[in-house]
Amino acid sequence: MNVFKNKIDLNLYIDTLKSQNRTLGFVATMGALHQGHASLINLGLNQNDVVVVSVFVNPTQFDNEEDLVKYPRTLESDVNLLAMISEEKIIVYAPSVEDIYGTNIVSTSFSYDGLEHEMEGRFRAGHFDGVGTIVKRLFEIIRPDKAYFGEKDFQQLMIIKKLVEKYNIPVEVIGCEIYRAKDGLAMSSRNSRLKPAYRKAAPFIFKTLNTAKEKFGTNSATKVSEWVTNQFAKNDILELEYFIIANSSTLKTVKRKINQKSYRAFIAVYADDIRLIDNIALN
Ligand code: PAJ
Repeated sequence: MNVFKNKIDLNLYIDTLKSQNRTLGFVATMGALHQGHASLINLGLNQNDVVVVSVFVNPTQFDNEEDLVKYPRTLESDVNLLAMISEEKIIVYAPSVEDIYGTNIVSTSFSYDGLEHEMEGRFRAGHFDGVGTIVKRLFEIIRPDKAYFGEKDFQQLMIIKKLVEKYNIPVEVIGCEIYRAKDGLAMSSRNSRLKPAYRKAAPFIFKTLNTAKEKFGTNSATKVSEWVTNQFAKNDILELEYFIIANSSTLKTVKRKINQKSYRAFIAVYADDIRLIDNIALN
């Protein structure tokens, strides 16, 4: 398994692959890899000759210092997991903060035509500037043909598509379905930090999203949102941060349902001090 710690070595390697006309897929991650990540990587392997997986906990996208400090860092087991998927066709880029940012650990400010003002953008100040900064930089270093992002972070996926469009970055961004544990909980690196009682309670999030979807067939967005808020008010373990029904393209909160439009429900929940997000297509 080729594991690169700095961009100069990685670049030389990628130059060689490009000169051989090999196609390059890319999956950006913050590590603590799980089956959700693996599903993106597998799709990348099916569609490209080589897949670059970046493993980098990006400091500029965290609005909460404690979350950054506690974010799981498990490079050795990540590399082992990747080696089990494919020793030859996967390349790992696991840079230091310095390799990416030098000594200036700041993000650039981006406009994503308003997508950044909704949901995660509202609740996590500066988050999408940090995401845009790192993903743009990784695209420049890796120069992939195709890049894979999960619908688990649906708003992030939309924002990256917008980034690519705005900056004319020559990469095809491919959205991938949410991979869930058997009990419905969306896989996330943060799940490994959940204490047993919270892990046991967490599938309630997806269960509620499913019922909200059913209810949305015959109820207004406001009624469904009230119902969800009530469900969480009765739950002693999980704390609702937001539940929003939004237009799938603009991500703007729905005021009045229009039949032809596509909608999605988005949720953020605290389980203890761990923040979990999920979403579901409603029609
Ligand atoms: P991370 O949370 O590690 O996720 C990396 C990629 O895996 C993202 O595209 C995310 O949407 C996808 N992913 C995570 N869990 C998933 C699941 N259960 N099903 C499907 N896809 C899933 O998202 C980030 O890292 C960072 O913001 C990053 C893009 C790497 C920039 O730092």
